[in-house]
Amino acid sequence: MVESVEVSPPIPDVPGAQVGPDVFRQLLRQAVRVADLANAQATRMALDFAEIYRREQRARDEVDAHLRQMSLMEKQATRYAEDLAQMLRNERERRHELERALEQERVANEELRRTGLQGISHLLLAATIKDQTTGSHLLRVRRYVEAIADRLGMPGELVEEFGYSSVMHDVGKIHTPDHILQSEHHLSTEEFEVIKQHCIDGETMLGEARFFETARAIAREHHERWDGKGYPDGKAGKDISLAARIVSVADVFDALTSKRPYKDAWSIATGLASVESGAGKQFDPDVVAAFRALHDDGSIERIRAEVAAASD
Ligand SMILES: [Fe+2]
Repeated sequence: MVESVEVSPPIPDVPGAQVGPDVFRQLLRQAVRVADLANAQATRMALDFAEIYRREQRARDEVDAHLRQMSLMEKQATRYAEDLAQMLRNERERRHELERALEQERVANEELRRTGLQGISHLLLAATIKDQTTGSHLLRVRRYVEAIADRLGMPGELVEEFGYSSVMHDVGKIHTPDHILQSEHHLSTEEFEVIKQHCIDGETMLGEARFFETARAIAREHHERWDGKGYPDGKAGKDISLAARIVSVADVFDALTSKRPYKDAWSIATGLASVESGAGKQFDPDVVAAFRALHDDGSIERIRAEVAAASD
């Protein structure tokens, strides 16, 4: 702020008045004082200006610092965005690779399945020629097995697996000598021991592929009994695989109700009664109950009629 300076005493303006040395001295002092005050004022203004300049400088520095930080953050954000985009691209590529791998696996599985089914048909051809078993017997057994498995609430893939595996239950008979296999007489103990071997041979013939896992269990265990008095291992109850327990019921029922060289075909009612009398002894009671239910709702009759029509 500018300070006003009062000049005194005033220079006399009376005409003719004497201007003495005192007045000059006074004026000089006054001038010196005014100069001092102006000086102080200028110094204060300079200091104020310097302070304002410093403040502005600080504010500009702060703004610059903020700008640098924002620029840094922008660069970081850009880098993050690029990283994220790269991650998404990688993720998409990985997903595509996974989808390609799954598709390849599906194709391979389908191929394996086709090969497996071809193998089955060759094995069956050999077995039916050897055993004089009819294809329709195997087809009925398969259909009964699938119907029982479905009745027991099993998922569709397992129903199908049990079905195609069931037709290989007697495949080991390829190794059984003809005179024993086709004998119409009562078998001796030694001959019966040879017959038992077809379960073990069947399991061996079916190798180690996962595709034949259920078929191997069925081949090995389809002559086991619920009460443990079966062969070849004397397994009992649920130690016998469910697939084999189901095949056991289906195979025996169809053998009883089919004509063979040494016997006539039993009626459905007689065959069913025989199977039911074996519940808890030869057969799993739950499997027999499911079979009974299939009989009662007409499924057994329907399957027999459909297989007969297909054979014709
Ligand atoms: Fe058998």
